Amino acid sequence: MSVLFEPITFRGVTAPNRVWMAPMCQYSADVTGRDVGVPGDWHRTHLVTRAIGGAGLILTEATAVSPEGRISPADLGIWNDTQTHAFAEINAQIEYFGAVPGIQLGHAGRKGSAHVPWRGGGSLAGDDRLSWQTVAPSAIGFGDHTPPAEATAEDIRKVVADFAAAAERASRAAFKVVEIHAAHGYLLHQFLSPLSNHRTDEYGGSFAGRIRLLLEVVKAVRGVWPAELPVFVRVSATDWLSEEPGLDAGSWTPDQTVTLVQALADLGVDLVDVSSGGVASARIPVEPGYQVPFARRIQNETTVPAAAVGLITEPEQAERIVESGEAVAVFLGRELLRDPYWPRKAARVLNAQVTPEIPAQYARAF
Ligand SMILES: Cc1cc2nc3c(=O)[nH]c(=O)nc-3n(C[C@H](O)[C@H](O)[C@H](O)COP(=O)(O)O)c2cc1C
Repeated sequence: MSVLFEPITFRGVTAPNRVWMAPMCQYSADVTGRDVGVPGDWHRTHLVTRAIGGAGLILTEATAVSPEGRISPADLGIWNDTQTHAFAEINAQIEYFGAVPGIQLGHAGRKGSAHVPWRGGGSLAGDDRLSWQTVAPSAIGFGDHTPPAEATAEDIRKVVADFAAAAERASRAAFKVVEIHAAHGYLLHQFLSPLSNHRTDEYGGSFAGRIRLLLEVVKAVRGVWPAELPVFVRVSATDWLSEEPGLDAGSWTPDQTVTLVQALADLGVDLVDVSSGGVASARIPVEPGYQVPFARRIQNETTVPAAAVGLITEPEQAERIVESGEAVAVFLGRELLRDPYWPRKAARVLNAQVTPEIPAQYARAF
């Protein structure tokens, strides 16, 4: 019996299986006019194809809570009605094919105002009409990116309010899961890590100060998000620069993550999606399942269930991760770009049935 293809329930939402689509930016929205940040044909095809392919949960890419929260001008957003309606139409299709639609809400902070990756990903020139002034906990640039402005108290209040407004819109768009993006060196991770947060006010300094913004965002989102729907948080478990024990080490560490996640449990977070890195360049020992040990620590040392992500590509590997209790589910990123039908093929290997069922039109192939 495969556990990978067993359903799992969070509050009132049941994912039909534990193979989930990781959030992946497509940088494919219009950059000017009424359709800025609006999901279009590309996004619908991209997301719905993976639902037909059998993934149990489809997470949209990092979707900006405000225009200045985008990474590039071509990112998706959820700060207006046009965006909200477009997502609602896609979500109806995802649900029609039996998968659960979820959204990752993000704010890029100092990594914003950037070119799309296939144009190099660097900062837009300051005089580019599409550029904007980025904000971050401290005025410390990331790599070659144009340095951000230090966020004022007003900026911080706006970030919290923008996440709450975005979550409220997401519920109107019929998303069933909201994931707060606190990983990969984007704004919330920038506040968590001592490498990027040099503030001396209540949002910096101590561990309690650095996690304050994320806790406020989670509280605000939980406050507007329907009680019967789950909230997930994506974390970077480590900056990969220091494995020193102690909460006030020089970078963000797995120990700090465990303490943070226990605080998130008290705020009603239903699952932590465990990734790593992104706040500074570091040597990362990339190999199959290289981030799974961080998920295992969350599973063993906190009361919050963890999902694993990162170079999970083989059916038996995914099955083992869930079967051994290292994670309750797996997110697949690039493997689902290569093969939208991975879940259905994996089920054949593992002798399992996939829910959602294959549409009748394709049944002869499976
Ligand atoms: C094209 C692409 C876009 C991505 N965009 C996001 C994103 O929007 N949010 C996020 O948290 N991670 C993003 N990631 C990271 C993936 O969610 C995932 O964590 C990573 O690719 C590792 O998993 P994999 O080895 O299965 O691809 C992106 C990855 C890729 C390849």
